[in-house]
Amino acid sequence: MLKDKNIVLGITGGIAAYKAAELTREFVKRGAKVKIIMTSNATRFITPLTLQTLSGNPVYTDMFSLSGDWDIHHISLAQSADIIVVAPATYNIIGKIASGIADDLLSTTVTATRAPVLICPAMNSNMYDNPILRSNIDKLSALGYLFMDAGLGELACKADGFGRLPDPADIVEEVETVLTQKDLKEHKILITAGPTRESFDPVRYISNHSSGKMGYALAVMARRRGADVTLVSGPTSLPVPAGVKFAGVSSASEMRDAVMERVEEATVIIKAAAVADFRPSIVSDSKMKKGADRLNISLERTPDIISEVGGRKGDRILVGFAMETENLTANARDKMKAKGMDLIVANELGRPGSGFQHDTNIVKIIDKSGNIEELPLMDKRDVANRILDRILEISGRKGRA
Ligand code: PMT
Repeated sequence: MLKDKNIVLGITGGIAAYKAAELTREFVKRGAKVKIIMTSNATRFITPLTLQTLSGNPVYTDMFSLSGDWDIHHISLAQSADIIVVAPATYNIIGKIASGIADDLLSTTVTATRAPVLICPAMNSNMYDNPILRSNIDKLSALGYLFMDAGLGELACKADGFGRLPDPADIVEEVETVLTQKDLKEHKILITAGPTRESFDPVRYISNHSSGKMGYALAVMARRRGADVTLVSGPTSLPVPAGVKFAGVSSASEMRDAVMERVEEATVIIKAAAVADFRPSIVSDSKMKKGADRLNISLERTPDIISEVGGRKGDRILVGFAMETENLTANARDKMKAKGMDLIVANELGRPGSGFQHDTNIVKIIDKSGNIEELPLMDKRDVANRILDRILEISGRKGRA
């Protein structure tokens, strides 16, 4: 969603300035147009040539350069920006902005813009704790400037503490969030994701191939669109999405408890998890010996979470997924009816790029009136947005009813 967005990246003089190179690449990879302003101290840490090459645009370092055009740079950059990102932001630049000082190209551009300004501090942990900095951040936050918290870890000065520049991937995600319309801000969305694991002894379990990507994509996109998101996830290797409340679970019964505890406060529930339908009836306390050639394990049903939610849903919007290998549409419709869902998303399993593990999916979205929206192969984040669009439509209709 950063395609063709105009991002002005302000880089100030700290050791983390080298990470601005990666940040620039990430913005450019997503199709953004990146213009860079460096303070003169920043040019001591990383060369303008590096950033010019990565951004594909001239890098601005001087308020008064004779660049051959008639633009007043601090005005044209300030006006063209969809967002200004200051990363890394030193103690000094934050102090200058908070005090109304505009004495170089970056501070002047920040002063002259109407675009959102996202400030990503990076500095020594004592400087980061300094009450003067804290009060500058409070003052600027109250005025509408946006801040990311500095990360925890080993700093360039070898001290451990808060002061690291947030990861470039997290900064990109924050920029996406700031620039996305908040059309879901009225909603509290509970999402399940990933597989469940059903143990039969302390070292072995039954599970499935779900990676969690579909459910996490829903969580990321819903959060970008302003929803208050809670993600209940089985075990995955994915990082917890920024800005999302998270409950990690393992078995179907843990997932059931985590979901039922949170149903009351949700306005929308989306069940993208691949919950195991069966679990071993007996769980051995010790590792089962492999003495015999054959091992029979008796299985019993796990709780049917979506049916239980369906029974208590009230006005809430309930969305399920269907995983079928035959008669997909008919089986998905039956499931939707039987379990009280408002929408069901049927995975076209077996088609390349669809279902488990992929970054993409091919789905049909089926509603209660029987309408079917067939989507082509899409990134799971785009599929997530289409599902969220349909949820918004339903909630609009409910609001009018
Ligand atoms: O995680 P990925 O690798 O990205 O893959 C995504 C996905 C294919 C797992 C996802 O898109 C998906 O289809 N998830 C649901 C898979 C599934 O369990 O389908 P089902 O037809 O067995 O179940 C129907 C619905 O009931 C689902 O919403 C499921 O979450 C829910 N269910 C199932 C069993 C159970 N005991 N309780 C439930 O709530």
